[in-house]
Amino acid sequence: MNLNEYGDMDLMVVAVANALAGELRQILSQQERATFVVSGGSTPGPVYDVLCEADLDWSRVDIIPSDERWVPEVHVRSNARMIRERLLKGRAKAAVFHSIYAKAEHPDNILPIVAEKIAPLLPISVALLGMGADMHTASIFPNSDNTVIALKKRGSPVLVSMEVLDQPDIRVTLSARVLNNAMFKHVLISGRAKRNAIENAQGKKKTKAPIKAVLGGATVHWTL
Ligand code: 6PG
Repeated sequence: MNLNEYGDMDLMVVAVANALAGELRQILSQQERATFVVSGGSTPGPVYDVLCEADLDWSRVDIIPSDERWVPEVHVRSNARMIRERLLKGRAKAAVFHSIYAKAEHPDNILPIVAEKIAPLLPISVALLGMGADMHTASIFPNSDNTVIALKKRGSPVLVSMEVLDQPDIRVTLSARVLNNAMFKHVLISGRAKRNAIENAQGKKKTKAPIKAVLGGATVHWTL
């Protein structure tokens, strides 16, 4: 894990946006399309506001949420809604967005169909992930019903549902196997609690610290 510390949020936002744009440009110089996996939550919004104006061929970029809350895309907690509002604008409006939400009471009824849409876009070119203070990443939460399946190194599905006790919505997440296979991985965190958490994660089992499953070769960006 490489850790980049920044003096303040603005410095981190610009540096991460530039790094992501550079990696997307590099991928697009080597292959026809790039698959860009992006996290939800509250931290990455300012990065998306800068990144969306990057001068690159966004029409050749496929954007997939790293995870989703199982709510309609108009819902205030939808990651698709946040990503469309903050990233799919300006130049990046030309990117192709692939929702991992579908109209079904429970995701397990439809996940294989959603996964069939996503699978041809893999492997991931660039992944921007977040982390909770409980060391979850995407929606791979510790001690949840499908944590073990989501963390399996081999044979795990592309998408896994996750019912989390302290979360209002059922979640759906790309599995750790898929996330960890990204060519470029970034983890964006801020604040003292998350800095302590990511350092403590090293000594914990993956089921207690799912972030561990994606830290190999990743760049962690942190500011207070
Ligand atoms: C989500 C995210 C999730 C997020 C972390 C951190 O759906 O919320 O994908 O994995 O990155 O929970 O969230 P904050 O950035 O809001 O702290």
